[in-house]
Amino acid sequence: MTLGVVILAAGQGTRMRSKLPKVLHPLAGRPLLDHAIQAAKRLSPTRIVVVYGHGGEQVKGAFSDPDLIWVEQEEQLGTGHAVAHALPELQDVDQILVLYGDVPLLRDRTLTSLTTACMYTDLALLTAAFENPIGYGRIVRDTDGRIQRIVEHRDATASELEIKEINTGILIAKRESLSGWVERLDNSNSQGEFYLTDVVSLAVADGVSVQSSQPEDLDEVAGVNDRAQLAHLERRFQEWQADRLMRKGLSLRDPNRFDLRGNLAFGQDVTIEANVLLEGEIHLGDNVAIGANTVIRNCRVGDGVVIRENCVLEDAVIGVDCTIGPFTRIRPETELANNAHLGNFVEIKKSQVGTGSKINHLTYVGDSTIGSSVNVGAGTITCNYDGANKHRTLIGDGAFIGSNSSLVAPAEIGSGATIGAGSTITGKAPEDTLTLSRAKQMSIKGWKRPVKKPKE
Ligand code: UD1
Ligand code: CA
Repeated sequence: MTLGVVILAAGQGTRMRSKLPKVLHPLAGRPLLDHAIQAAKRLSPTRIVVVYGHGGEQVKGAFSDPDLIWVEQEEQLGTGHAVAHALPELQDVDQILVLYGDVPLLRDRTLTSLTTACMYTDLALLTAAFENPIGYGRIVRDTDGRIQRIVEHRDATASELEIKEINTGILIAKRESLSGWVERLDNSNSQGEFYLTDVVSLAVADGVSVQSSQPEDLDEVAGVNDRAQLAHLERRFQEWQADRLMRKGLSLRDPNRFDLRGNLAFGQDVTIEANVLLEGEIHLGDNVAIGANTVIRNCRVGDGVVIRENCVLEDAVIGVDCTIGPFTRIRPETELANNAHLGNFVEIKKSQVGTGSKINHLTYVGDSTIGSSVNVGAGTITCNYDGANKHRTLIGDGAFIGSNSSLVAPAEIGSGATIGAGSTITGKAPEDTLTLSRAKQMSIKGWKRPVKKPKE
């Protein structure tokens, strides 16, 4: 059986109080709508149609996936009206699943069980029992428990309002039948909208036995209407994700204080301390340890690397057995070879550091190529920017840069060269040679320190 998915995403999301369309607000670093799209994709459908309206071009522009079909619903005249807009794009599928751009946490198992419920019939609903069903459509069943219809909260009688079983809005139907029902929808209700939910009574009138299934977790069917709900679902997402990662062997000191917004591949015995944030594509080798309050974006980190507390790493490749931090900032396009050490208050950008080299304290390295076994003393600055252009600094193997040196780029320090502390180096420093530039030290005999004048 072939499947088509419709994702409704035309609503405005007024309660977000945002210029950004609601479905573009990020959850775990991706737009809400992307979560619905990915859930749909995991079912391998023939086609995914997104119905958009408010913030149209902006919503569409946020996705580059060429497989998506975008259908504009200029006026939001109801969920049934929205589905009707998508149907012309789905004429060649057997079944249609309806999802929502603001419902991000649906799990595969839940969608599979809904699909299964529709195997031998024409319509199945995802329903849930809510302690507090205010605002939701209620599932009306007959005395034998067969689904009869859905009544919207605003159209419900007092006794219908007592019903705890609600309509999540998510449903699956045979395409042919759904098309017929959607054509017959009208808007004679309190909101003057074409309710998708009215397909249920039309199906029942056609003799269809409407089936239902339920999600394992109620947050799977929760929609985002405001920022508090968004934050709640972000936490649930992170909780489930952390659980999965731990079961795959990742050590999280406190899963409640760990965030991954992207994809993490990791080796054996990786430990992550509290308050770590990982973003983008992250690869951690075996025995990597990450200290508290560290942020890592798009990095490959080799086996045995220790990253201490309070570091920020971005778009970098870290070789095996490096030690980093505390308080190190690694900016994009940096590569550390094996066994390199970067210490506290070191900032490094667009640079390569060779095997076993150490930059341990209070240093800025930018646009530099540093050889192996180099020692860069505390307070060293590569002056890479002349106010107009950036220039490179090259430091050969085994060089020793004395503390508080300024290397004015373009600069070239030969292998085995020593730079005396406090030097300002411009141009070349020859290999295996001590180079220094420093005002000569002098002592002035008999010099008197000024003393305070006595009070009049
Ligand atoms: C809908 C259901 C209700 C269910 C609830 C679950 C109907 C008539 N009611 O009510 O039974 O309990 O969802 O949350 O379906 N949308 C469009 N175009 C439109 C109208 C809506 O794309 O013309 C989208 C919205 O962006 C939103 C979703 O459909 O994501 C639901 O629409 P909304 O108007 O919020 O429906 P509810 O009143 O919540
Ligand atoms: Ca709603």
